[in-house]
Amino acid sequence: MSDKKIIAVVGSTGAQGGGLVRAIMSDPGGSFTSRAITRDVNSAKARALADTGAEVVAANVDDEASLATALKGAYGAYFVTFFWEHFSPEKEKAQIGNMARAAKAAGLKHVIWSTLEDTREWIPLSDTRMPTLMGKYKVPHFDAKGESNKVFTDQGVPTTFLFTSFYWDNLIYFGMGPRKGPDGKLAFTLPMGDRKLPGIAAEDIGKCAYGIFKKGSEFIGKSVGIAGEHLTGKQMAEALSVALGQEVVHNAVSPEAFRSFGFPGAEDLGNMFQFNHDFEHVFCAVRNISVSRALNPSLQTFETWLARNKASIPLE
Ligand SMILES: NC(=O)c1ccc[n+]([C@@H]2O[C@H](COP(=O)([O-])OP(=O)(O)OC[C@H]3O[C@@H](n4cnc5c(N)ncnc54)[C@H](OP(=O)(O)O)[C@@H]3O)[C@@H](O)[C@H]2O)c1
Repeated sequence: MSDKKIIAVVGSTGAQGGGLVRAIMSDPGGSFTSRAITRDVNSAKARALADTGAEVVAANVDDEASLATALKGAYGAYFVTFFWEHFSPEKEKAQIGNMARAAKAAGLKHVIWSTLEDTREWIPLSDTRMPTLMGKYKVPHFDAKGESNKVFTDQGVPTTFLFTSFYWDNLIYFGMGPRKGPDGKLAFTLPMGDRKLPGIAAEDIGKCAYGIFKKGSEFIGKSVGIAGEHLTGKQMAEALSVALGQEVVHNAVSPEAFRSFGFPGAEDLGNMFQFNHDFEHVFCAVRNISVSRALNPSLQTFETWLARNKASIPLE
């Protein structure tokens, strides 16, 4: 039997968890191996993970008992929730409770929890500069995660709080790519004015997380923020122009305009971009590029990411 330490990975068939499983399994000389957690061990993505040598086990984060079983014998775990599947902060909070209790029961030595800020610490509900959403949140998909950090602390789970950044992959999978305007020109819409947005290649999140596990106890009880670069919308549009070989302009709409776009989650994202804009220094300071590169020496810049992914960006 292998004496490697097992890292159980929630969301293993997704962006963050998938990157971590691949990072661990592509380092056969390392002291870790991975256990990929999925609801469907027979899916094509799960089978692809098994092909890397990862153990693939079934569990559902809605079901604490299934999770506790999946964590047995593991050294550590990577936990992430899936807001955009259900748009429910309450569901995220229930899943986080299940994860923390299951981690405690399994006696895990190190958990990385993929969290985000509780923006209400900076913009209380009484602050009218942005609307309150769902009755008690400013940025629901941030606030529920940040509010829940204490659940791990309260359970006494040895946890690293990982603050991730905007995935550049959103330009491919999340409808954030440049679109043709009425003038026929490509425009990249980002309601950030001239402020910087920390961004990252989604695959690098897992690589940074692997770097944290490799550091042993150094980051336990600590918060770590990661980003590949901090860029303005104008800088991103310029990089897109070079990569795509055609002009892309920055469409710096206001957060109010973004909130009114009407697609599911538009208000949440409009508030998120306004928070990132209004608290640029706080938000960028948390996400340190040098720390990220030390954890993951192959950390991509936006330019590198574009060179590898430009052909996949839909241009409508
Ligand atoms: N997009 C961004 O820029 C960004 C930036 C920072 C943070 N985030 C946060 O990232 C989170 C999503 O992470 P991601 O992008 O890695 O997700 P993802 O790529 O959408 O993958 C989610 C995976 O999680 C699994 N999953 C979903 N529900 C599950 C359940 N009930 N039990 C067990 N597994 C379940 C699914 O796997 P199976 O189908 O195989 O079970 C799925 O493949 C969101 O909460 C979001 O707020 C996003």
